[in-house]
Amino acid sequence: MTVQIDSLWPVPADDLDDDALTAGFVRADRGDPWLRVNFVSSVDGAATHDGLSGGLGGEADKRVFDVLRRLCDVVLVGAGTVRSEGYGAMRLDEPAVRWRVAEGLPPHPVFAIVSGGLDLDPASNIFTKAPVRPIIVTTGRSPQPRRDALSAVADVLVCGDDSLDTTAMVAALSDRGLAQVHCEGGPSLFGSLLAADAVDELCLTLSPRLEAGDARRIASGALPEPRGLSLARVLRSAGTLMLGYTRA
Ligand SMILES: NC(=O)c1ccc[n+]([C@@H]2O[C@H](COP(=O)([O-])OP(=O)(O)OC[C@H]3O[C@@H](n4cnc5c(N)ncnc54)[C@H](OP(=O)(O)O)[C@@H]3O)[C@@H](O)[C@H]2O)c1
Repeated sequence: MTVQIDSLWPVPADDLDDDALTAGFVRADRGDPWLRVNFVSSVDGAATHDGLSGGLGGEADKRVFDVLRRLCDVVLVGAGTVRSEGYGAMRLDEPAVRWRVAEGLPPHPVFAIVSGGLDLDPASNIFTKAPVRPIIVTTGRSPQPRRDALSAVADVLVCGDDSLDTTAMVAALSDRGLAQVHCEGGPSLFGSLLAADAVDELCLTLSPRLEAGDARRIASGALPEPRGLSLARVLRSAGTLMLGYTRA
């Protein structure tokens, strides 16, 4: 049975089915570049439980997570998250594929991984089982031999000489027709995107639990000044809140 999700704001609605849930996240103009980031956090701000995000999210978070993947052109993830969470190929399930094809979209989004050191195995499932050729985003400082090895299994985009140029990255993705970017973290990549003011929307699942300890927060790194946000959406499933924020 699918877990119930209600909308509290801006349009109150009980028990959203998948179509209604999806409608709440659809962007009117797919050609208009949009970078959406999705995280789950405990109420006291922990982004991990035992070093992973999976311990924090429940079924409702998973429903939203799947909808966000279904809607995007490209899923963007930092290499740290890819390694720690054990990502495989970016392959959606059959209902999502059917929905995308009916909407005139390719069956699967592209998987784009951001990495400076390129410590990624070209023989991993991420590449060998990929339904679409993945993208690696890196900088001019990355080791050439690893770049060459990964070029055999992915398109390698060099965005920035010494450090990642996130503006160039978003432009390069958009130039490839990948305007709807969905970033699944992690905190370092989110921090880089925030520093460049590249984030259009934050989807944050607030899990009704306290973790204490010294777990990661959802963003790391430095910002010149705090960023204001506007509340765009409030979904609820039992004690879990799924919040949407855009730029103030
Ligand atoms: N709560 C949640 O929703 C959530 C979501 C995602 C992740 N997490 C958790 O976050 C933790 C991982 O944190 P993290 O900060 O390591 O994740 P991350 O941002 O995914 O990975 C950091 C790595 O990504 C690459 N990277 C990111 N930004 C870069 C930049 N500006 N320039 C060049 N390379 C860049 C680098 O890869 P290289 O090392 O290859 O150079 C860097 O070491 C894990 O415990 C994971 O479970 C939680």
